[in-house]
Amino acid sequence: MKTEPIAETWDALGNGQTRFIGAFYERLFERFPGYRKFFPHKLDAGHLDKMAQTIALVARFSDEEDLVAPRLHKVGSAHRPYDLQPRDMHNFATVFTEVLGEHLGNHWTDAAAQAWHDAFDRVIIPLLEEGERTAH
Ligand code: HEM
Repeated sequence: MKTEPIAETWDALGNGQTRFIGAFYERLFERFPGYRKFFPHKLDAGHLDKMAQTIALVARFSDEEDLVAPRLHKVGSAHRPYDLQPRDMHNFATVFTEVLGEHLGNHWTDAAAQAWHDAFDRVIIPLLEEGERTAH
């Protein structure tokens, strides 16, 4: 898996990372209003930061599963109550990659889009699902 474009594009957001996460949730809820009810009424800075930190970890180490697995397993087990299906994970990944591309402008390339899709399909989603299935 080609992982440099993931770190590069995440870094290119600079201090716009939290803003990007906010825009991502806005789009996710606009497109899939049914997800809104699972989240707190107001997504506070703490939540956006946690999400940004997890994504930053993945951006840095997505090819080193040992480093990202413990965090993603924990996040996966925290998702157990929502009974998420593969389709939900796919929706999340699609909106995430779409909004990321819009925020990156010239920094966005086909290779970057491919790298993020691969990271979701091969690393992020499988590890979350593993965490959902087992106790962590
Ligand atoms: C690849 C897919 C997904 C990833 C990578 C992901 C990642 C995360 C992360 C990192 C957190 C913060 C965990 C923490 O507090 O430490 C979180 C929380 C949460 N996620 Fe997801 N998530 C995904 C899909 C979804 C989907 C599809 C839903 C749909 C309902 C969802 C609902 C939630 C909720 C309700 C919270 C808790 C919010 C809160 O109480 O602050 N997630 N997710």
